[in-house]
Amino acid sequence: MNPVSRNLDETSITEAVLRRVAGASNDRARTISDALVRHLHAFVREVEPTEEEWRQGIDFLTRVGGMCSETRQEFILLSDTLGVSMLVDAINHRGASEATATTVLGPFYVANVAEQPLGAFISEGLDGAPMLCEGSVCDPSGNALAGAIVDVWHSDGDGYYDIQHADGLESLTGRARFRTDGGGRFWFRSIVPNFYPIPDDGPVGDMLKAQGRHPYRPAHVHFMIAAPGFETLVTHVFLSGDPYLDSDVVFGVKDELIASLTPQEAGRTARGNVIEQDMSALRYDFVLTPARKETL
Ligand code: BEZ
Ligand code: FE
Repeated sequence: MNPVSRNLDETSITEAVLRRVAGASNDRARTISDALVRHLHAFVREVEPTEEEWRQGIDFLTRVGGMCSETRQEFILLSDTLGVSMLVDAINHRGASEATATTVLGPFYVANVAEQPLGAFISEGLDGAPMLCEGSVCDPSGNALAGAIVDVWHSDGDGYYDIQHADGLESLTGRARFRTDGGGRFWFRSIVPNFYPIPDDGPVGDMLKAQGRHPYRPAHVHFMIAAPGFETLVTHVFLSGDPYLDSDVVFGVKDELIASLTPQEAGRTARGNVIEQDMSALRYDFVLTPARKETL
């Protein structure tokens, strides 16, 4: 018999659980378990849920899990809308001030999409105003990174991503992969994305309503940029003037990631690319940070 594990009450149960997890097999598991127990117990002490409220909380998390599929990740939405994803992002990208700022990955990234030639039109089948995107990738000293892999994805003019449609994974559009040229440059053609609501027909949408919040994200283009020897950059470029820049439902906007669309006439652009019709141009130059040395 271990007397410290019996007759527990609200003043003694937290210490009893902490003692139980103190024997965790490695330091990290112990740190995480200890903090989880302390914070969870403090939350319950502060809120003092009724048993019915606790049951509803468990039902909420059960519905979040039940909603997850290959094309819908409700747990990412939960983390994003509670600001946890951006907090994790901030903790993991401290002090890389010369590099392009990071922001949330979101649930609509698709790995290993087909590589397209520079200049490709990536939004086959989508309606919207034509957009030219021109960019470059360099290191913090300004050296061009040739051969960097640039994944891009964005919503359509109605604010939906390809994978939100029934046949989404079979007919990807509004996304592509490019490889920078010898000068670290890339360019492509697409349509101007719009602001959109995150999927709000599930438990996270119910939570937003209960919290009196709207579900919108300002218009943006996602970028994931990878080059050997550098940290993979996960970010967006937001379109200036969007009505939701100051109330992004996932807290992902940073001033330095906002760019203006500027009119670009058909013909040769200042960066030397040739387009056949007038377009709105989005230009952004990215800086990658050297990979951290492994400390293990
Ligand atoms: C997105 O930008 O694609 C996104 C990010 C977080 C939650 C939902 C969508
Ligand atoms: Fe998005």
